[in-house]
Amino acid sequence: MKGRVEIIVGTQWGDEGKGRVVDAMAHTVDVVARYQGGANAGHTVMVEGEKYVFHLLPSGMLYSGKTCVIGNGVVIDSQQLLDELTDLQERGKDRARLVISGAAHVVMPYHKKLDSMEERLRGSRKKIGTTHRGIGPCYMDKVNRCGIRVEDLLCEDALREKLSFNLEIKNMYLTRIYGEEPLAFGEIFEQAWSWGQRLKPYVGDASLTIFEALERGSNVLFEGAQGTLLDLDHGTYPFVTSSSPVAGGACVGAGLGPSLVGRVTGVVKAYNTRVGEGPFPTELKEELGETLRERGGEFGATTGRPRRCGWLDLVALKYAVRINGIHALALTKLDVLSGFEAIPVCTGYRSDEGEDLPYKGNSVFLDSVEPVYRNMEGWKMDLGACRDFQDLPRPARDYIRFIEEQTGVPIVLVGVGPSRDQTIVMGL
Ligand code: IMP
Repeated sequence: MKGRVEIIVGTQWGDEGKGRVVDAMAHTVDVVARYQGGANAGHTVMVEGEKYVFHLLPSGMLYSGKTCVIGNGVVIDSQQLLDELTDLQERGKDRARLVISGAAHVVMPYHKKLDSMEERLRGSRKKIGTTHRGIGPCYMDKVNRCGIRVEDLLCEDALREKLSFNLEIKNMYLTRIYGEEPLAFGEIFEQAWSWGQRLKPYVGDASLTIFEALERGSNVLFEGAQGTLLDLDHGTYPFVTSSSPVAGGACVGAGLGPSLVGRVTGVVKAYNTRVGEGPFPTELKEELGETLRERGGEFGATTGRPRRCGWLDLVALKYAVRINGIHALALTKLDVLSGFEAIPVCTGYRSDEGEDLPYKGNSVFLDSVEPVYRNMEGWKMDLGACRDFQDLPRPARDYIRFIEEQTGVPIVLVGVGPSRDQTIVMGL
């Protein structure tokens, strides 16, 4: 194959800054593809002082001449996608070609409703803390083989038949279990049909588009949403999302043979954050956590929820390196750590009995471990103007080298501020 495939994955619980890393790499590729997740994701990219937040569109949409692909593994909130396209058109930035897989599933209004109802039923102790975007219920229908796919929105008979079957069941849930009013067929049908008509020009064979691009010698970038620790199989189950953000998910979620994957780059924030419930061994619950949240602007791009913050967890990062087969790391938000006297980094987990423990993606286990920290020296300098590794203060360079040493993976990019140019490139 003449073209090259690169996969960008999150190594933590999402919000690592993948959008900006994809943005930094986009000029080296012709195709940018998403392979999983839906409008639960939120990629923020700053370009020429303007802020763009994408929930469904690949970040590559900001580049003219690119092809952006939404693969079969994505679940599509059609209204959200159409709004994002309209926003780009209005700002004169709709310069890329978009191809949406006909096999991608559609998030229907009842999915969102059921997502919220189920969270309410779980109660505050057992809830997952989902984004209420209907992600879990939509993937449930996909697995249950009753979901509505994008291609169904284009065929009136198929849409009628599938929607009426689904509504019959969903309305039973809504009325009998949750005591809600049933949803009306007519309104949802009209809405879904109109989505289909508007999305029609973009619907195509996503897998073939990618394959033909590679054959022509074009490079393809896969943009993961969420992160490794939110992966349905490999994350902190059950506090996970319902898709496969790990690198292997790109093959299934876009119709790509594994032998075609060239390089996997993991994105890691200089500290850890998490939105929603679930274990977080290095979480800072007191003032320090608040300081990190304020300095890092750690509020969800999708829900606006404050993110839980904590020190970098190298045990979990090494696990992410293994699960994804990561070749290179991109370290983001290093500038946020400026001003701390010391920066603890978690290098191990210990049991109550003082026994050293290897990583296990099990929530009960992770809730019980005691992190072992190594104190790294802090630095005072604002890193925003650094453009070269040598511009960084010595303790910041040591921080980078320590991560490389511990993971055995080179860091190829360092983010030192929110703007596109506040990036140190170290061998992308
Ligand atoms: P869901 O994906 O909405 O079902 O939510 C499941 C879990 O994944 C919750 O803890 C969410 O907060 C989390 N989650 C989903 N998408 C993102 C994301 O893009 N960034 C960070 N966390 C996310």
